[in-house]
Amino acid sequence: MCGIVGYIGEQQAYPVLIKGLHRLEYRGYDSAGVSMITPQGDLHVYKATGKVSALEEKCAPEDTTGTIGIAHTRWATHGEPNTVNAHPHRSESGNLSLVHNGIIENYKTLRAMLEKKGYSFSSETDTEVLVQLIEFTQKNEKCDLFTAVQRALKNVVGAYAIAILEKEHPDRIVCARKGSPLVIGVGTDARGHREFYIGSDATPIIEYTNQVIYLKDEEIALMTRNSDLPEIINLANVHQTPEMHTLQLSLDELEKGGYPHFMLKEIWEQPNALRTCIQGRVHVQAKDVRLSGIVEHREKFLNARRIIICACGTSWHSALIGKYFIEEAAQIPVEVEYASEFRYRNPVIYPDDIVIAVSQSGETADTLAAIQLAEQKGAFLYGICNVIGSSIARATHSGTYIHVGPEIGVASTKAFTGQVVTLCLLGLAIAKEKHTLSDEMFHLLVDELQSIPDKIQWTLEHNQNIDQFAQMFTYCRNFLFLGRGYNYPVALEGALKLKEISYIHAEGYPAAEMKHGPIALVDGEMPCVFIAPKRGMYDKVVSNIQEIKSRKGKIISVVTEGDKTVSDMSDYTFVIPDTRDCFVPLLAVVPLQLLSYYVATAKGRNVDQPRNLAKSVTVE
Ligand code: M6R
Repeated sequence: MCGIVGYIGEQQAYPVLIKGLHRLEYRGYDSAGVSMITPQGDLHVYKATGKVSALEEKCAPEDTTGTIGIAHTRWATHGEPNTVNAHPHRSESGNLSLVHNGIIENYKTLRAMLEKKGYSFSSETDTEVLVQLIEFTQKNEKCDLFTAVQRALKNVVGAYAIAILEKEHPDRIVCARKGSPLVIGVGTDARGHREFYIGSDATPIIEYTNQVIYLKDEEIALMTRNSDLPEIINLANVHQTPEMHTLQLSLDELEKGGYPHFMLKEIWEQPNALRTCIQGRVHVQAKDVRLSGIVEHREKFLNARRIIICACGTSWHSALIGKYFIEEAAQIPVEVEYASEFRYRNPVIYPDDIVIAVSQSGETADTLAAIQLAEQKGAFLYGICNVIGSSIARATHSGTYIHVGPEIGVASTKAFTGQVVTLCLLGLAIAKEKHTLSDEMFHLLVDELQSIPDKIQWTLEHNQNIDQFAQMFTYCRNFLFLGRGYNYPVALEGALKLKEISYIHAEGYPAAEMKHGPIALVDGEMPCVFIAPKRGMYDKVVSNIQEIKSRKGKIISVVTEGDKTVSDMSDYTFVIPDTRDCFVPLLAVVPLQLLSYYVATAKGRNVDQPRNLAKSVTVE
């Protein structure tokens, strides 16, 4: 998820662009760039790794004058977050500069075609391919930029929101979208001149105008200085009438996409985030799962004696689910280690061990130290991270990004489900190579995994009254979360979520372990949350619920849609759709995330930045 800003009008563009980038930093923040056409007619591009402030330090004042420009803050998808890969990208002749949000799926094919035509590339990005393709089309078909963009995009497979400057025509910006959002703000400056703003969303626009046009999929817009409205055409060559909307939201609401907190936004983002995570890895036609890390290191995975996963916090919980799945599907023993413990032991590591680090931020000090130790002992290192180019991603020999977009809320939500999906994809990809699953079972699992984003959407939509229910539990001092098998890590995660944002003490336990101690805590004041889907050890969980009920504990349960037995025994139930045992965690965790969120907000807690916690734990 990247952020785009653009401006054309009569004001100085640079301050508008920089302010817009700051506003969009929540969308991604590994590098930033700006491109301007000066009054002298020069097109300049400045880029910097890191935050927007690093870009500001780099820009020469004389190159950032002018009334037209585009800018970008990046969340890397192709290539490391360095200045070469940062946007804007320039075309071969230097006449065009372009910023892009999205992923061009057929960029390798397009790049090969352009290389044959003599184009060269300096970055690893799909975006540079796009700008070269547009220039190639413009030259080859002798057309203007607006037409060239439309024609070039017909050959592009994937998602994009783009904005382009053309040195030869400093009076126009062209932008387009498919799959990724793009908003055009239509304003009037103090002297009555028309001005156009471009944004990935309305956050960089709202302080200048509340009149916006939401570009639709497959539309291309031309904004010309002094014209009244943008000219819009679609890929099918049909001119479109711009539809003006009036923004009603405040700036703060906009950054959070209309949600009161990032955490809630990120919970609701899960269906789409997981679609992106799965996309390109599951090949629907061939019913295949391919992870480039497994393809490149096939022998390592085929010959692995053991997998050790090192992680902390929520990532440790997803690793535990990964262990169950990989052992079941790929028949490789998996050990899950707290990175903080592993790094200070003297663990036995064999040369044919694979050590996997799971980390959202890719910066967790203990996880990084754990893999450095494993490397010294000769292990092959694999990273499962969200932040592209992070320290762990760089320190591992290979890996897979979870691609769920920036997670801002300190409480991890979409990264947890992204990690679980990625570990399942890893298990499936190894199982395919090792033939440890029948074709029939493999296909069943692949199909089911693909249905999970829709089932999460269903879960979100069918549990909307958790907010009212949560009010009743704000007085509680303790909570127990209980689950068995694949749902034991969900119990741990439910407890962690609740305690970190509501500050209510909570414990997760394997449901059967309860009678070895924790049951002594149970009385009429103690809410016990059971993950009790109609799968696997359902009957055994029913007995565990009975044990709590007879001690007057309050039963809250996560049940499969249509369930009666557990629902009748429970004081409150959250419903999830049916799915295979191994994928239940992906659904069951969602009501628990919402429960924590609503209990915490009812208690007036700062859910996005709970006390004493940081998003990246870079100290031990
Ligand atoms: O960035 P990482 O996944 O390595 O972070 C690990 C933990 O610090 C993190 O999951 C933490 O437990 C979260 N705040 C949980 O919501």
